[in-house]
Amino acid sequence: MRPMVQRLGYVALNVADIDIAIEDACTVAGVRVVERENGRALLTSNQRHAELILYASNSDSVRSIGLQAHNVDVVAAVRRRAEQAGLTVLSERPSLPCIDRSVTFATSEGHIFEVHTPIPLTQPVRHTGPGIRPRCLDHVNLSSRDSEAISNELQTVLGLRQSERTTGHEIVWMRAADNRHHTVATVKGPSGLHHFSWEFASFDDFKRLGDTLDAQGRFLVWGPGRHGAGDNLFACYIDRSGFLVECIAEMEVIEDENHQARIADPGENLSNPKVVNRWGALPPRLWTEHFVPFAPPITA
Ligand SMILES: [Fe+2]
Repeated sequence: MRPMVQRLGYVALNVADIDIAIEDACTVAGVRVVERENGRALLTSNQRHAELILYASNSDSVRSIGLQAHNVDVVAAVRRRAEQAGLTVLSERPSLPCIDRSVTFATSEGHIFEVHTPIPLTQPVRHTGPGIRPRCLDHVNLSSRDSEAISNELQTVLGLRQSERTTGHEIVWMRAADNRHHTVATVKGPSGLHHFSWEFASFDDFKRLGDTLDAQGRFLVWGPGRHGAGDNLFACYIDRSGFLVECIAEMEVIEDENHQARIADPGENLSNPKVVNRWGALPPRLWTEHFVPFAPPITA
């Protein structure tokens, strides 16, 4: 089956200090504000009307993950499939005025996904301003108590294809219809979001990222390096709301329709560099133990 979602649509976060969260996203990642009103800010790195959505809240948590479907028929099909899989459908009301149709459901561990029609392209192709300036929002990595079960739910409901997994399903990487190695991954841990990522144009951007964080008295949590799974360059930092942000480039694209999911031995505590970081440095505890919970769902 062709994956029912094309790509990552958005990441929506509740933040305790929306001014700081906006400033951090603009001055480090280098996105820009499209709209801000009623305690909600829409930010983007490209033509899409919204990629990062920040909601003023009393704590930092994940609100929902948007996955972009091809059309309204797919949204309806996802609703049916979610119900058939025994998952809770939370809403059919789009979370943003710029979204035509959507369905929001929760996994069995409470990860909240909104599968929606395409985000309109209302913004300039590129912009000037501070920060590194990504090309696009790239992928999310969920933290889940049962990584295998959650990855199976997402494959069943959304038709995501497994690109690669570790022997014990400690991490499962799944691709959408755009065939990039992973749009959603699951990693074993407490239920929540492990990280989300921006795609950057080149390795030079990683140097600017490190220097930008250094100038603010901050640092990279892990990287730069190159993952074995996905073959992408990476560097990670924690933003000022406590979310782990990964910056990537050169993600593998899997064109082979008959691709069989690769199975990799991660080693004890992710100690196999060829899977984790081909350049050698293994993830610190700040990375391996990180997660941010999802907020209780808003039903409508
Ligand atoms: Fe990642």
